[in-house]
Amino acid sequence: MRVIVCENYEEMSKVAANMVAGQLLLKPESVLGLATGSTPIGMYEELVRMNKAGEADFSKAKSFNLDEYYPLAPDNDQSYHYFMNEHLFSKVNIKPENINIPDGTAKDVQAECDSYEQRIAQAGGIDLQILGIGNNGHIGFNEPEEALHSRTHLTDLTEDTIEANARFFASRDEVPRQALTMGMASIMGARKILLLISGKGKHAPLKAVLSGKITTSVPASLLNLHADTVVITDRAAYEG
Ligand code: F6R
Repeated sequence: MRVIVCENYEEMSKVAANMVAGQLLLKPESVLGLATGSTPIGMYEELVRMNKAGEADFSKAKSFNLDEYYPLAPDNDQSYHYFMNEHLFSKVNIKPENINIPDGTAKDVQAECDSYEQRIAQAGGIDLQILGIGNNGHIGFNEPEEALHSRTHLTDLTEDTIEANARFFASRDEVPRQALTMGMASIMGARKILLLISGKGKHAPLKAVLSGKITTSVPASLLNLHADTVVITDRAAYEG
C-alpha cells in the first residue's frame, strides 16, 4: 500500500484527478469504479475542468458506482444517481449507456445484485476503483461486521453511518436504512484502487488501515491484501 500525503483537500483532489486522467490516457476504454460522498467532490470538480480542457477523456470509459441507497429512485435528489449526475456525469463526455449504478428501486434485489456483478465481469472488471472511507472504516457500504459479504448485496446501514450521512438529508429520519453495495470481493477485484481520505475526523480509520492489521471490524483494512492500492490523504487526516 502506497501512501501519498497531500497538504490539503485541494491538493488531494488534484492528485487523484490526475491519476484518473492518466488511467484514461493509458487505457481510454477503462472501467472506473466510482464513489460518492463528500470526499471525491473536489476530484470530480477537477475532472470536469480537465475534461473541458481536453485533459481527461471519458468518451470510451465505463463506470460502476459502489452503492446506492435502498429504496431510493434515481431522480430523488438524495440518491447517488442524482449525486453522480450533478457532480460528474452531466458535465463530462461519458456516454449514458456506459454508466452503471445499482438500482435503488429494484423489486427483485437479488436479481439486481447478480446482474450488477455480471455487468462488471462483462466489462472486463474494474481497472481503477475510487474509494472514500467511513468514520467506522467502511468502504462502499460494507459496514464493520463479524463476516463481510464478498459480492454486491443489500445491507443495513449502521447507526454510525446513518448519523454521518444525516448531514446530506433534511433530518436523520429521512436517511434510508438500507443500501445496495458492491461487496469486498467486487472491490478487491479492481486492478488498482485509490483510497481518498480527508479531514481530522478520518484520522482514526486511516490509522487503523495503516496499522497493517486486517480485521472485518475495519473493512478498509482488507485493502492491505490488495496488490495495488494507493492511499491519498491530506495532512489533517494523516496527522489527526
Ligand atoms: C460512497 C461510499 C462511502 C463513502 C464514505 C465516506 O459511495 O461508498 O463508503 O465513501 O461513507 O463518505 P464521505 O466522503 O462523505 O465522508
